[in-house]
Amino acid sequence: MCGIVGYIGQREVVPMLLDGLETLAYRGYDSAGVVVVRDGELEAVKAEGKLEQLVEKLKGESLVGSHGLGHTRWATHGAPSERNAHPITDSKRRLALIHNGIIENFLPLKKRLIEEGWEFTSDTDTEVVANLIGSYLKHDLKAATQQAIAELEGMYAFAAVSTVSGDAEIVAARKGPPLVIGLGDGECFLASDPAALLAYTKNVVFLENGDLCRLTAAGAKIWDRDGREVERQTVRLTWDPIQAEKGGFKHFMLKEIHEQPQAIQDTFAGRVDFETNTIGFDNFALTSEEAARIERVQILACGTSWHSGLVGKFMIEELARIPVDVDYGSEYRYRDPVVGEGVLALGISQSGETADTLSAMEAASDRGAQLLAICNVPGSQATRISEGVIYTHAGPEIGVASTKAFTTQLTALFLLALYLRQQRGLPIEPQQLSELAKLPHAIADIMDTEAELEELARRYARFEDFLYLGRGINYPIALEGALKLKEISYSHAEGYPAGEMKHGPIALIDESFPVVAIATGSRVFEKVCSNMQEVKARDGVVIAVTDRPAEELSEVADEVIQVPRSSDLLQPLVNVIPLQLFAYFVAVRRGADVDQPRNLAKSVTVE
Ligand code: M6R
Repeated sequence: MCGIVGYIGQREVVPMLLDGLETLAYRGYDSAGVVVVRDGELEAVKAEGKLEQLVEKLKGESLVGSHGLGHTRWATHGAPSERNAHPITDSKRRLALIHNGIIENFLPLKKRLIEEGWEFTSDTDTEVVANLIGSYLKHDLKAATQQAIAELEGMYAFAAVSTVSGDAEIVAARKGPPLVIGLGDGECFLASDPAALLAYTKNVVFLENGDLCRLTAAGAKIWDRDGREVERQTVRLTWDPIQAEKGGFKHFMLKEIHEQPQAIQDTFAGRVDFETNTIGFDNFALTSEEAARIERVQILACGTSWHSGLVGKFMIEELARIPVDVDYGSEYRYRDPVVGEGVLALGISQSGETADTLSAMEAASDRGAQLLAICNVPGSQATRISEGVIYTHAGPEIGVASTKAFTTQLTALFLLALYLRQQRGLPIEPQQLSELAKLPHAIADIMDTEAELEELARRYARFEDFLYLGRGINYPIALEGALKLKEISYSHAEGYPAGEMKHGPIALIDESFPVVAIATGSRVFEKVCSNMQEVKARDGVVIAVTDRPAEELSEVADEVIQVPRSSDLLQPLVNVIPLQLFAYFVAVRRGADVDQPRNLAKSVTVE
């Protein structure tokens, strides 16, 4: 959803901006641009397409200046083109602006500005913001920005530089999409995501909604929505910059798949006491009375995080005996949900910045629910609006397709389910924890079968349609397997509850429509085998994921992917791994851009 980066200080500006943009490229890659201010002049270079196009174009330029901005775009208003690429200037070319979000009242504002004589050369809503600030700009960029944002409706994060500023400065504002300031020694940074700043500083300040800030080389000043100067807490990031690099892997996605054993271990380490069989968290605690008062858990999430919520429902209901609903963030806020004090609303988000999830969390909180977040990004909005946070310790996830974020969310949900069980006076069985301890090894073992999965993908990469089937706790894994395949390989894939196939999708089955069936665990293994039988009887092709010996499936499956056995509640973490790898290798085989699939962005910060 567009990446923003800004720098002011003694370094060479453009290399820093490009470096930051490279990390932020996952947020959008329709076009990119940079601007620097040199001797009171704006110098900008923009290019349609990916960041490499901009880098190529910059080779012929000598863009130097005291401070500047960089942007990578995910188009909302106006097609991807150089004309619509950011930075966008006002029509007097006294300021340049980069923007992430949507200005909802851009049409009436544009009409008024045109009447006032301002010109428009792009199709973007961003140009309205540039001209609006321009219309108020005399000598003080911060004051003009403050006047302009009072008139803006919608969600935005933007940053501006100007030729009229006496001292070098960057002014930025946030309402909705994230913005983080990086503090250095005699320098200041700005970015949509702290991952872009890791190589430069670990001291960051997250702007709150409604904040306006002014950055100079000497530091940052922040004003809240009422115009009062405020101090925001400086957060020390613990992420390692190396984690945001590919480390020898061809794609971030493959690297992140391989990081899962460690990430899962990092997520449960320090929270489980294997001697006393107890669970505890740093940023979330309930007394037994508080735990007993929870009547219902409402999980709010989008995409892959919603799939992890579906798995979490099984975990929490079985272990803590609390009923759980799972809602899409985008649906929840537009219905009239029954929420009250006995509700624990649980927002699940890798980024902590997904607009739909955040709105749903706020709606639940407004109606009296207690708010808890499972989140990967420290200091992100989801963590700030919640009363409690369970961090997943996945490290930065750069590939647009979620992999390690998903399995660490499942780990956190399992811990939460056990914690609720414990606080409601039910014992945690040692075996529940020992199965958790074994998971990293089990998953590492699957990585050893990577070559077989690559070969399987080679045989199936030509198919255009796939059906993924799972039952019970593995139905969400069928959904997740299908989502991984479709989003990165552009093959059509549908996830379905295996038992429902006969109520409709079975009509699609023929030899050109492979079915991936998850047949693990004790509860529904035979049932899924019957469903595979139904596929075979209609000349369908079956790829089975199983924890049983291959011979047991010889009658019902054409291909068998074997996975280690875990407990029924943890088996989904194992089962999803070969599906991630299968999707990855199919996408590579089809020549797709794995880390930056078309039309997608990693953090969806617009509604
Ligand atoms: O950052 P979030 O977890 O809130 O993101 C939600 C979805 O946009 C995300 O899970 C998306 O579906 C995945 N990147 C798909 O792999």
